[in-house]
Order: sequence, then C-alpha cells, then structure tokens
Amino acid sequence: MNIYISDFHAAIQYSFQGYVCQMLHYLYGYRVLGLERDKKNINRAFTRQKKLYPDSLTKVKYTHCDVTCDSADVIESILQQEFPDVTDVCLIGLHACGDLSTSASRIFCKMKSVKLFILISCCYHKLLISKSVQEKQYFQNFPTSNCLRETIVAYNFDIGQVLRIPFLRLACQESVDKWHGMSQEKHNEHSFYVLARAVLELYSRQNNYVLNKKVRKGTRKSQCSNFQTYVKDSLLRYDLVPDTDKTDNVITHEEMAKGITRVWEEQSTRLQAVEIYTGLQMMLQLPAESFILQDRLCWLHEQGLEAIIVPVMNKCISPRSYAIVSHKY
Ligand SMILES: C[S@@+](CC[C@H](N)C(=O)[O-])C[C@H]1O[C@@H](n2cnc3c(N)ncnc32)[C@H](O)[C@@H]1O
Repeated sequence: MNIYISDFHAAIQYSFQGYVCQMLHYLYGYRVLGLERDKKNINRAFTRQKKLYPDSLTKVKYTHCDVTCDSADVIESILQQEFPDVTDVCLIGLHACGDLSTSASRIFCKMKSVKLFILISCCYHKLLISKSVQEKQYFQNFPTSNCLRETIVAYNFDIGQVLRIPFLRLACQESVDKWHGMSQEKHNEHSFYVLARAVLELYSRQNNYVLNKKVRKGTRKSQCSNFQTYVKDSLLRYDLVPDTDKTDNVITHEEMAKGITRVWEEQSTRLQAVEIYTGLQMMLQLPAESFILQDRLCWLHEQGLEAIIVPVMNKCISPRSYAIVSHKY
C-alpha cells in the first residue's frame, strides 16, 4: 500500500487484528491509534502486541470505539489522551466496510488535527438502508454527493429500483483482472461451484426449505470433484430447515440428496452459461465500484478538499484496490 505519511507523527486506523498499526510503527516509527468496535478484535490485537511487539506498547494503542459520522470529538479526545502532543495526523480506513467509509470521510473533514486521509472502502452492500419499499431500497449514505443527488433529481430517476443491494454487491465482487488468463480447468471448476450452489438454493426454494449454513464456509472446493460428493458434503455443512409457514414436511437426508441430484440433472446443461454470466458480472464490477467511489470523491471535493483516487494494490490479490486520498493544506 502506498501511504504518503512521511511528515506525519501519528496515524489513526479503523481496525482489525492490528497488523497495519504494528507495521506502520515498525516501518516508519509512527505512533498509531487503532479504533475498533469489536472488543474481541481489540483483545486479540493487544494480546498479539504484548507477545510480538512489547516495545511498541506506548506507541501503538488499541481502543474500543464504535465509529459513527458524529465521532470526531470522541476520537479527538481519545487521541489527546493517548498522544497529547500530536498535531499532524493521518486517518486511515483500510477495508472500512459499509457506512464506516462515509463516517470516516465526515470525521476527516471535522477533525482539525487530521491532515491526511487514506480510505480503502469495502462491503458496499453493508450500507444501512434508510427506506425499503417492496423490491426498492434507499440508503442513508449513498449517494452522498450533491453532484449525484442533483443529477438523480434532474433526471427524475428512481434510484431505489437500480442502485440496490445487488448493485452494491456487484461493486464489491472480484475484479475482471482475475478472470483474465484463467485456465479452462479453473473455469470448469468455477462454473461447477456456482451452479452446484445455485441448485442447492433452487431445491430449497422449490421445496420450502431455508438453507442455513452450519459452518463458516458452506462449500469446500475439495468436495467439488463430482455432484454426489458435493451433495453429501453440503448436507453435512448446511441445514435445510422447513419453512414452517409453508411446509411441515420432514424428509431424510437420503431423500433430499435424491431430490437435489434430480434438480442438478435438469440444470447441469447451464454450466457454460454460468461462465458467460460471471464474465458479464465481472465486467460490470469496475463501473459499479467507480460509480460509488466517484460519489465519495465528489463529496470530498464539495467540502472544499482536494482528493484523488489512487490504485494501490494488485487487484488479483486484493480486489478492493483503490484508495481515496485527501490532503488538507
Ligand atoms: C473488513 S475489516 C478490515 C480490518 C482491517 N482494516 C484489515 O484490513 O485487516 C473491518 C473492521 O472494521 C470494524 N468496524 C466496522 N464498522 C466499525 C465501526 N463503525 N466502528 C469501528 N470499527 C468498525 C469491524 O469490526 C472490522 O474489524
């Protein structure tokens, strides 16, 4: 990551496990304040710090803070308490998910001591919905810029129909760069994986079941060698819970496996189409993400700040690879 903070005395980061905080201190000697709303993450980062970097205890601090757009004063007082003499601060949001990104932009504008802002957003689809009408969704913090809001009004465009969660999900997919140069074997693997999961979903819906994951990762690639193995493994890793409003039909795993395999046999001719749709989806990812990032960039410009979008990472390694960088003079 390209971080232009050589003149800065301290950095604030919305955290994690503390990797970036520790690295910023280790490489550049900065004092770093890591803010995190999940206390478990704070404890983990602190435990790791005590074990691996005990010398950094007075220079890298982890603090519990549920950051909102109104957190500027709270953060300023934490900062003054932890590092009383700091003046020039860099605020970093690395993979700031959902509304945290827009909150961080507002905090950057409000905090006098913060001179540099580096924001790498992620999980656009976790933005808070302010209004939901049937299939339509409207968000509290998207769009944010007057520029985009006014354009939407001028064209009488109902954004709730298009700029919905599926659009935001599309924006945080993998990049098309990863698709480029993929071997036929990898395409085959990918289409199998996507269609097999879709068949599981289709079977559940057709039979009024709700699919509940029992483990964090529902499907293991190692179980994708053929559909029989896939079904067997999936039935261990997912619960198919009868939707009680629609059915009280309880059947055995064996019957389920037979039913799911029947749906697979009907659908498996679509394997090639899956790859075509995935390619299309990947081509739309960048325009969708650019749209969101440009809106955030325009908002900073409208606050009278200079800001640019900088590519900072290899997209094949980290799909959220653009940073919004803003500097106060
Ligand atoms: C996607 S993770 C990124 C973590 C880290 N920056 C990294 O790249 O490894 C986002 C982190 O921000 C934390 N987080 C999300 N919303 C927050 C908020 N409003 N205030 C403070 N922390 C928040 C989450 O608990 C999570 O640890």
